[in-house]
Amino acid sequence: MNLDLLVNQTPCQHDVAPNVLLIDFLRDKLELTGTKWGCGSGMCGTCNVLVDGKTTKSCQILAVEADGSSITTIEGLATDVLHPIQAAFQENFAVQNGFSTPGLVMAAVELLNENPNPTEDEIKLWLRGNLSRESGYQPVVNAILDAADRISGTDNGHAPTPANGQGIGERVTPIKTKEILNGNAQYIADMTLPGMAHAAILQSPHGHAIIKNLDTSEAETMPGVIRVFTAKDTEQIMPMPVIWVPPYAESHFLPHPSGIVPGSHRVFATDRVRFAGDQLAAVVAETREQAYAALEKIKVDYEALPVVLDPEEALKDGAPLLHETAPNNRLIHAMFGDKEATEKAIADAEVVVEQRIYNQRMMQNTLEVRGALADYNAKTNQYTLWANTQIPYPHRLLISLYVLGIPYNNLRVIIPYMGESNGCKGNLYPDTPLVLWMAKQLGRPVKWVDTREGFARNTAQSRDQVQYGTIAGTKDGKISALMCRAYSNVGAYPVINAPGQPLPLIGKSITGAYVIPHPCYEVDVVYTNKVPTAPMRGSGRAEAIFFMERMIEMYAREIGMDPAEVRRINMVKPDQFPFDNGLGWTYDSGTYENLLNLVLEKAGYIDLAAMKLEASQRGKWLGMGIGSYVAAAGVGPSAKMGAEGLLSGTWGSAYIHVAPSGEVAITTGAQPHGQSQDTTFVQIAADTLQIPMEYITLKHSDTSNPIYYGQASYGSRSLSVEGAAVKQGCLAIIQKAREFAAYLFKMPIDLIEYKDGKVIGTPAPEQAVMPLQVVALMLWFGWDLPEGMAPGLETTAYFDPKNFNFPFGTHVAIVEVDQETYNVELKRYVAGNDYGVVVNPGVVDGQTYGNIVLGVGQALSEEGLYDPETGMVLTTDFDTYAIPRADWFPEIELIRTETPSPTNILGAKGAGDVSNPGVAPTIVNAIINALSEFDVKHIDMPVTPEKLWDIVHTHQFETV
Ligand code: FES
Repeated sequence: MNLDLLVNQTPCQHDVAPNVLLIDFLRDKLELTGTKWGCGSGMCGTCNVLVDGKTTKSCQILAVEADGSSITTIEGLATDVLHPIQAAFQENFAVQNGFSTPGLVMAAVELLNENPNPTEDEIKLWLRGNLSRESGYQPVVNAILDAADRISGTDNGHAPTPANGQGIGERVTPIKTKEILNGNAQYIADMTLPGMAHAAILQSPHGHAIIKNLDTSEAETMPGVIRVFTAKDTEQIMPMPVIWVPPYAESHFLPHPSGIVPGSHRVFATDRVRFAGDQLAAVVAETREQAYAALEKIKVDYEALPVVLDPEEALKDGAPLLHETAPNNRLIHAMFGDKEATEKAIADAEVVVEQRIYNQRMMQNTLEVRGALADYNAKTNQYTLWANTQIPYPHRLLISLYVLGIPYNNLRVIIPYMGESNGCKGNLYPDTPLVLWMAKQLGRPVKWVDTREGFARNTAQSRDQVQYGTIAGTKDGKISALMCRAYSNVGAYPVINAPGQPLPLIGKSITGAYVIPHPCYEVDVVYTNKVPTAPMRGSGRAEAIFFMERMIEMYAREIGMDPAEVRRINMVKPDQFPFDNGLGWTYDSGTYENLLNLVLEKAGYIDLAAMKLEASQRGKWLGMGIGSYVAAAGVGPSAKMGAEGLLSGTWGSAYIHVAPSGEVAITTGAQPHGQSQDTTFVQIAADTLQIPMEYITLKHSDTSNPIYYGQASYGSRSLSVEGAAVKQGCLAIIQKAREFAAYLFKMPIDLIEYKDGKVIGTPAPEQAVMPLQVVALMLWFGWDLPEGMAPGLETTAYFDPKNFNFPFGTHVAIVEVDQETYNVELKRYVAGNDYGVVVNPGVVDGQTYGNIVLGVGQALSEEGLYDPETGMVLTTDFDTYAIPRADWFPEIELIRTETPSPTNILGAKGAGDVSNPGVAPTIVNAIINALSEFDVKHIDMPVTPEKLWDIVHTHQFETV
């Protein structure tokens, strides 16, 4: 059918099939890829465009329905100069990874056209159709308020505070966000190569079944199909490796042919599927639609087997056995702390409180699904892989060495713009090397981009731990012992770093911010027929802190003491650092009680009783909850990670090069995906080299960059480890510049100063002076160098911290539970955090907002659910898996203190995911406080209105 419309003010006629969606027409036919696909079901808003000025989800209408309309996409909003809304997003730090940004901006355009001066609440209601999972909503709301001022020319005080310079601690506007804002940033789904074919992968819908027969014959004859691959084609592809083998624990991994590492799943299941998502076959076709159409024609004859989904059930004799190598499905048994001493302290204690806590299965549900694009050059035997992974260098090593057995030097991995990870893109999945391998087999580029349902089945999920807790202490509030007996659900296979989460990250973190003389953590890590689990934002620390913060509340309730006071009594005091928590962590520095007091004061803790009374008169139960946390960050000290069993270094690295022009190029081992290293690392370099930021660029995300190996971004490590390497590299550049100047000026080195981007001979500062650019130029000439000095001004710096760093904080929430609907409303949220020395406050605030949104989701709505009979994943879209939306949140109030860490040259601590652990317990504690008249002991997450109704109506409070 002929389509006649105006797209971004340009007339456009196209012949289009009647079943083509508007989003596909825009992206595939017009190559306007700034419009993003996040769900296809109208739930996320990433595909928003304006149709005749109205915000429209382009995945929900056919292209033919837009015939005769005027369409504006993000690309048409502005050209060279950003639209005021785009500029406001940029300056309010509302972009981050940017995948949801175009949809949010387009929604904001219509809002401000209709309502030029909206209130904060009106903005949040308007944004109900948009999800912003990783970045949160507060910066977006701030940006829209600011944009309204810019467009109307009024000053209502919404403009962000500008940076007062470029150095450390300044709120410098993020660099490299313009191409995200104007829709030109290319994510994996936006990429094409000449001659590219498209892959679709068949997943098992069963949690556990024998594959009796697999028939691909009809699929092979479908239009456009190039090839169908199954397990019999891929026998030479090795299983996925596991690179974390704790030497101190009993473990039962699968073998791997390398004999060096254990193994995990293969690219295709052979005789049996073990989770709903196990891969069976792949179709490669000329188009994506053809590939998926052919996938439907593959016939699989399954014989369903009993499933086991619960880790405690899986350990029982007679439970379905997943792997012969793991009797009773036990992958790992481990213990931290002295069990005997802990049990004795519990037996001797005046007060003992016990509780079973289930930290539910979470789904990472990034708005951008996973994908890969691969190319193979037969003439040079070179492989190139584009993938949205957090770990490009580990992909290069693991795929070449342990999966495909190809030369490391012949594989290049490139990461395009990446839309969120939440941790799930920090693994190696079978689909990725499969795409690379298929590109070689077919001699043409192959691209695979997952579906939303596929993502729910094949991408690692997280948390899912049952904890039996015992806390013991005195009647006057001194904790003496804490026991956590845990059962962790690892799913059907261990991902590359599976042991990290249930072992050290939870096990060593359960004491939180407190001095507990006798702590112990014992865990079984258990196979089940669920999707594999892996670290998720807040990883391990989230499960541990939720446990601790619930147990301390129950202890306070038992002894009838103010929970804030119990925290004060037991918190680690400033003079106790470095503090050994008895489980293996040595905390670096902190002022925990001070931050607790600041947050309580701001939240009006003292007025709680009056607030409760006032709310009850309005038909609400009001509660205030506290959540204090300490979170290991800055992964990590290589020696300590090695002792944990990680088969990898974890140092930071930076290559720094000062060109003869004076421009500085830094290559980092970090892998930005929303953390703004493009800005913060440049700030560090500009601050150290004392030159303008405009002279400095950051390179990353390509293994052909001039750096030996990049350890990537995860575990809140980028700033304090990789950023510290940048700082060290800049200091090495300065040192070489000074040595060269000492030689030229014929002065001792201690008389050469580096200041304002120049080397200065202090005895004759007017004559003996050279800008860094001139130093670089003369070193490039190399005409006259001191004995032994190499030409050029470049260095590679490594930083391996001696210890982790330990950011901390206290959050307080005020909630109201409606006495009729049992709906929970978040009235205030005050978050106090200490990330050590902060390079860019706007960046860390952005991280904090995202962590709070995720934590609120875990507390109130999110849970990955399975059919108990078949093991099918039930929560496969944003209808069935509820992610918080903008109107759930009040204005988030932030407090920040700065306690430098002694573990690195910047004094920085991690910030990327560390504030998440404080959030869920804060919310749950607040809800339980709201229901204080019912004497509720504990509620498992997510705390839904249905659960609250049950509690109030059954009055079975102690057993909930
Ligand atoms: S992709 Fe259209 S709403 Fe999610």
